[in-house]
Amino acid sequence: MLLLALESSCDETAAAVVKDGRTVLSSIVASQISVHAEYGGVVPEIASRKHLESVSFVVEQALAEAGVGLDRIEGVAVTQGPGLAGALLVGISVAKGLAFGRSLPLVGVNHIEGHLLAVFLEAPVQFPFIALAVSGGHSHLYRVDGIGRYRTLGQTVDDAAGEAFDKVAKLIGLPYPGGVAIDRLAASGDPKAIKFPRPLLNDGSFNFSFSGLKTAVLTHVGKHPEAKDAGINDLAASFQAAVCEVLTKKTAAAIAATGIKRLVVAGGVACNSALRRSMAQFADENGVELSIPSPALCADNAAMIAVPGDYYLTHGVQSGFDLDALPVWPL
Ligand code: KG4
Ligand code: ZN
Repeated sequence: MLLLALESSCDETAAAVVKDGRTVLSSIVASQISVHAEYGGVVPEIASRKHLESVSFVVEQALAEAGVGLDRIEGVAVTQGPGLAGALLVGISVAKGLAFGRSLPLVGVNHIEGHLLAVFLEAPVQFPFIALAVSGGHSHLYRVDGIGRYRTLGQTVDDAAGEAFDKVAKLIGLPYPGGVAIDRLAASGDPKAIKFPRPLLNDGSFNFSFSGLKTAVLTHVGKHPEAKDAGINDLAASFQAAVCEVLTKKTAAAIAATGIKRLVVAGGVACNSALRRSMAQFADENGVELSIPSPALCADNAAMIAVPGDYYLTHGVQSGFDLDALPVWPL
């Protein structure tokens, strides 16, 4: 099936043409980052307006790059949630219009489900597997038994991992989005320079907590103002090391508890070079089969939405034209 997929849950307007939920013929992402960077974070009202401005062009580009006309498209998948309501509605309205205009089946997809399954666009993974979804809004550990079969093992009790990166970056004067900036600075810093806490590391749950870590960084720079200047590389590396250690050890515990030795790490924070290294080392030492999508497929994109979208449409699951945005939608 040749699917057109749309994604507009946050600050990227994206469209993709994907064959059989596996082969990406095109994946176009129009980022709004530079607009939101001025405000230090995503401004929902601006995000909706920017999606409106870009969406037609992005869809046209996706079709052009795939070398197909709309007449060849056999189904439409769109991110239904979670995300910003106004932003989601732009993608949903366009998806509905295209599906209705051409009498195509339509399906609404969970954004996190897209992240978890993005890896299938590069290599198949056998079920069951453990999945760590780490993004701006999520830090979740799942047991995945099949497409549509997810069990939450643990989640953040406060900030998501990406949110922690972005908030810490902001408080040490780095531009939005902070994850990339911290990753870059940390590359030449000492991860052992500052001993930041590892929240909930040994509490026996699979939950995460990152807000205390953010406070610890704030307290540290309050006492040592030079940490934001000459010491910024060490500060970034030490904070990043704390996040990566907690994410890796909790994931390791979930693998030990379930006995499932296959792991997928997904979402924007999975672009982080230290996290990729830490997960690779853990997997290597413990005989775990690790799959992390390439960075372009970890960040928000529409191709990942086509993976579950194709599965649902080919299994007779489709949405009606009353499809509405679900800003909060646990998997
Ligand atoms: O999945 P994503 O693109 O959007 C959401 O669904 O939220 O994730 C965005 C998050 C942001 O918080 C961003 O700072 C973080 O992913 N991120 C990173 C890196 N690249 C993106 N965090 C750490 N290191 C990176 N290299
Ligand atoms: Zn995302």
